[in-house]
Amino acid sequence: MSVWNTRPGPPAARRTKLASSLDRLGGRREAPDRATGADGADSKLLEVSHLSTHIWTRAGVVRAVDDVSFELDYGETLGLVGESGCGKSMTALSILRLVPEPAGRIVGGEILFEGEDLLHLSAEQMRDRRGGRIGMIFQDPMTSLNPVHRIGDQIAESARIHLGLSQRAASDRAVELLDKVGIPRARDRARDYPHQFSGGMRQRVMIAIALACDPILLLADEPTTALDVTIQAQILELIVSISAEFHTAVILITHDLGIAAGMCDRINVMYAGRIVESGAVDEIFNRPRMPYTSGLMASIPGLSTARGQPLRTIEGMPPNLIDPPAACRFAARCSDAREICHAGEPELTSRGGPDHHARCWGTDTGGWLP
Ligand SMILES: Nc1ncnc2c1ncn2[C@@H]1O[C@H](COP(=O)(O)OP(=O)(O)OP(=O)(O)O)[C@@H](O)[C@H]1O
Ligand code: SF4
Ligand SMILES: [Mg+2]
Repeated sequence: MSVWNTRPGPPAARRTKLASSLDRLGGRREAPDRATGADGADSKLLEVSHLSTHIWTRAGVVRAVDDVSFELDYGETLGLVGESGCGKSMTALSILRLVPEPAGRIVGGEILFEGEDLLHLSAEQMRDRRGGRIGMIFQDPMTSLNPVHRIGDQIAESARIHLGLSQRAASDRAVELLDKVGIPRARDRARDYPHQFSGGMRQRVMIAIALACDPILLLADEPTTALDVTIQAQILELIVSISAEFHTAVILITHDLGIAAGMCDRINVMYAGRIVESGAVDEIFNRPRMPYTSGLMASIPGLSTARGQPLRTIEGMPPNLIDPPAACRFAARCSDAREICHAGEPELTSRGGPDHHARCWGTDTGGWLP
C-alpha cells in the first residue's frame, strides 16, 4: 500500500511504516545532530515571519503571499496545501529568493534559515544556499534538466560546486545517488542524456540532484503532478524515505490534501495568500477548525465518499488577490458564513490542540461550528 493515499496516522506510525522502504534502500543512517541543529539546541531550522510577496501586473498589485508566518523543525515534513493560486509556489520561491523579477518582489518579513535571515544574504551567498543546504525538486524535470548534458555530469556538477569534491569523487557520488534513488544499472545510466529517461526516472534524477549536496531542507513543489499515479506513489515514498534516512526536513507543496496526509508531520493550509489553518496532521484531519479545510478534505477520494459517489467540490472562486476583501477571505464560498464573517478578517489563533491554529470566526467566538 502506498503511503500517500491513506488516512494519516501520527508521525510515529508513519515512520514505522517507512522502515521497510528504508531497508529496501539500504538501511538508515543516524544523524542525531541534524535533529536539533548543530549546537544541539532545540532551535528551529526555518522561521518564516510576516512574509509578504507581491507581483506587479497591469491590473494591479497581486498580494500573492500576504503576511505568512510558520516554522519548521529539523527533520520535519511540512505540507503546504491549498487550491491553485493560493500562494504555495510563491511562498517556496520567496524562501529560495527566486521570485520572478522584476514583476515580483518580497516586500516584507523575515526568513530565518539556521538562524540567518535569507533576505539579508548577498546574491552569491544565496546561490550557495540553493542547491547546497537547501535542495529543490520542481514539478517538471524536463525544464530543470539540461538536455545536452549527461545525467551523471548534472548530478556531479552540483556536488563538485557545493561540496568541493574532485571530478572523480563527484562522479562516484552521482552514481551512488542514482543507485539510491532506484535507477537500475546506475553506472551505465549515468552516461545517458535526459531524453533517454522516462518521466518517472527524470524525477528520480531531480531528487538525486537535490540530494547531491546533502541538503538539510528539501523544497518539493508538486513533485509528482506530471507523473502517472503508480509512479507518483513511488516517487513520494522515495522522498519520505530519503528524508527519514538523512533526517532532511521537507516542505512538500501539493494541492492534494490526501498526499500531504500520508507524507507530512504537520500541514499548513493556504487560502488566498494566507495561512488559514495549521497543525499536526492528525489534528487537521480529525479536528479541522476552518470550513475551507473541511471542504478540501471532502474532496479527497475515499475519505468521505463511497465508491461511485461523486466527489464534493468547493463552489465558487477565491477572491481577487489585487483587492482582497477586508473580511474572512473564504466568506463568499462558506456555507457557515454569518454577518461577522463579512465584517472583518479573523486572526490565525490557537485552537487548543498541539500547535493547532485556525483563522475562523466560527470557532473564535466560542464556536458555532462543531
Ligand atoms: N508571474 C505571475 N504574474 C502575475 N501573477 C502571478 C504570477 N505568478 C503567480 N501569480 C499570482 O500569484 C498568486 C499565487 O500564485 P502561486 O503560483 O504561488 O499559486 P499556487 O498556490 O502555487 O498555485 P498552483 O497550485 O496552481 O501551482 C496567484 O494568484 C497567481 O495568479
Ligand atoms: S470565518 Fe466565517 S466565513 Fe470564514 S471560514 Fe469561518 S465560518 Fe466560514
Ligand atoms: Mg504552484
